[in-house]
Amino acid sequence: MAICLLCMLSWAFMAGAELRFASYFADHMVLQKGPACAVLWGYGESSANVTVMVYQSDNIVMKKMVQAEVFRIWKVVLTAMPQGGPYSIVVRQFYEDEVSSIMLRDVYFGDVWLCSGQSNMEMTVSQIFNASKELAQASHFPYVRVFTASLAQSEEELLDLPDIDLQWSVPTAENLGHGDFGYFSAVCWLFGRYLYETLQYPIGLVESSWGGTPVEAWSSRRALRKCGLSEDHRSFPVSLDSGPKEYSVLWNAMIHPLLNMTFQGVVWYQGEANTAMNTDLYNCTFPALIEDWRETFHEGSVGQTERSFPFGFVQLSTDRLVEIDDSFPRIRWHQTADYGYVPNTKMPNTFMAVALDLCDGSSPYGSIHPRDKQSVAYRLHLGALAVAYGKENVTFQGPYPEQVLVDAALKILNVTYNQNIHLHHMDSKVFEVCCSDPALCEWNTIAIRTASFRTVSLQNIACPETVTGLRYAWTEWPCDYKQCPLYNLQSLPAPPFISFSHNNPSWVVS
Ligand SMILES: *[C@@H]1O[C@H](CO)[C@@H](O)[C@H](O)[C@H]1NC(C)=O
Ligand SMILES: *[C@@H]1O[C@H](CO)[C@@H](O)[C@H](O)[C@H]1NC(C)=O
Ligand SMILES: *[C@@H]1O[C@H](CO)[C@@H](O)[C@H](O)[C@H]1NC(C)=O
Ligand SMILES: *[C@@H]1O[C@H](CO)[C@@H](O)[C@H](O)[C@H]1NC(C)=O
Ligand SMILES: *[C@@H]1O[C@H](CO)[C@@H](O)[C@H](O)[C@H]1NC(C)=O
Ligand SMILES: *[C@@H]1O[C@H](CO)[C@@H](O)[C@H](O)[C@H]1NC(C)=O
Repeated sequence: MAICLLCMLSWAFMAGAELRFASYFADHMVLQKGPACAVLWGYGESSANVTVMVYQSDNIVMKKMVQAEVFRIWKVVLTAMPQGGPYSIVVRQFYEDEVSSIMLRDVYFGDVWLCSGQSNMEMTVSQIFNASKELAQASHFPYVRVFTASLAQSEEELLDLPDIDLQWSVPTAENLGHGDFGYFSAVCWLFGRYLYETLQYPIGLVESSWGGTPVEAWSSRRALRKCGLSEDHRSFPVSLDSGPKEYSVLWNAMIHPLLNMTFQGVVWYQGEANTAMNTDLYNCTFPALIEDWRETFHEGSVGQTERSFPFGFVQLSTDRLVEIDDSFPRIRWHQTADYGYVPNTKMPNTFMAVALDLCDGSSPYGSIHPRDKQSVAYRLHLGALAVAYGKENVTFQGPYPEQVLVDAALKILNVTYNQNIHLHHMDSKVFEVCCSDPALCEWNTIAIRTASFRTVSLQNIACPETVTGLRYAWTEWPCDYKQCPLYNLQSLPAPPFISFSHNNPSWVVS
């Protein structure tokens, strides 16, 4: 990877002779536990001898020695550590006759997750339903530790974070509820808290998100080139709830600096901004971002962050009750690389929280910011348990169709799902059929007739001859709160889908 030599030099000069940690290593932090090794780095004198010691109480449990590089950066890969703590970490620099040292206190080893995206990730615990109850419970979870990077953008890839909004902290009602769209992210917090409740060991949460930002801002130039996007010379006005839209500027300032930390995985809540920008490229740009982050986090952590680390995300919820275009359903579909579900061949080791039934028309923050973040985080953590932690008995996906059977004579369309379904109500709008050439579809709504076990039977009186396409929940706002027609028996909603007979072997037409 090309790194900016000038940036490195200026960082080195700014660092001076002072021995210190990189910005995001601080007291109260969680470092990644084994089998991965945590990476620690900081600044010191060129070529100084640096010793890193990990203490539990007064006992030294690990000692590592390295030499700082000429650019006055030292970097240590610790020995893999089991979950737990607290530990102290002492770094000592020997430079000619001078000895200096710095220390981290109250450090735990556990799983570290990065939370990124736009304003639905930024929304804080004080902005959601039951905020006071959630805030009051914060102090019951002292082993879930939180950190928030400041909003920052840059034309060049930065080595370290320019600033920090919330340095590593033990959660309190104050730091989880600090203002609107500030810190700490409700989705990130609840995700970490639910994981802690199951795993029972420390969880570190690093939030780096900015409202109103498109995927292009979070992508490296290299990732964007893979989707045919090269130089971006536009500039957009920046306001608080609508962050920068220029290519790569947030990747440069808010993600690149974190590559040298060891993470367990990433959760992502973004996509709204791309309903108005490069919408039909999202099926390329999003998988490309995931692949690029995986490659670079692996490389930046000297191989410690897993090469194909788990990547979870939230499928878009709802915004406009009266929709003016189909950009929301298109982004929802593209979020899965057009498969409808994840993980899939193009998006391995990913998990998705479906949120199209979590609408909130009376949200004081605008309907684009639904306040039920508990359900979002709960669904997301089920995905993490199944995909990241290999818990085989956790159902984390909603029902997805396996077969579409068209009985033209009886005017019946049977959709068979891969799970038992719970039909919330008979519905006459959520399924639509196309009767013509798929390229020229006019969609007609058709009603649900019956449903049993895994099959929903639809009354097809819309297409006089043959059915060429079928779609489900292909609107911006398909149902009232938690009242979509189809769920599984674990109350997970069926994700939206679109399917055509001509290119889909799961269609049986008689
Ligand atoms: C680092 O340690 C080596 C071996 O003890 C020593 O020769 C060298 O001078 C030390 N370097 C500095 C900059 O103190
Ligand atoms: C993305 O979706 C658009 C619009 O449906 C389609 O034309 C394009 O082929 C898709 N690209 C990929 C990489 O799947
Ligand atoms: C962090 O990782 C990036 C990507 O591999 C690399 O360019 C950079 O030099 C690393 N920084 C440190 C301090 O090792
Ligand atoms: C809010 O709390 C009430 C009472 O405990 C509960 O029934 C409801 O599900 C909670 N809402 C959310 C979104 O968690
Ligand atoms: C899944 O399996 C684990 C271990 O066997 C068990 O403790 C847990 O209760 C199970 N969970 C469910 C939802 O069945
Ligand atoms: C369609 O599904 C219904 C309800 O499960 C079932 O009674 C019917 O036999 C199915 N029709 C065909 C043609 O399979």
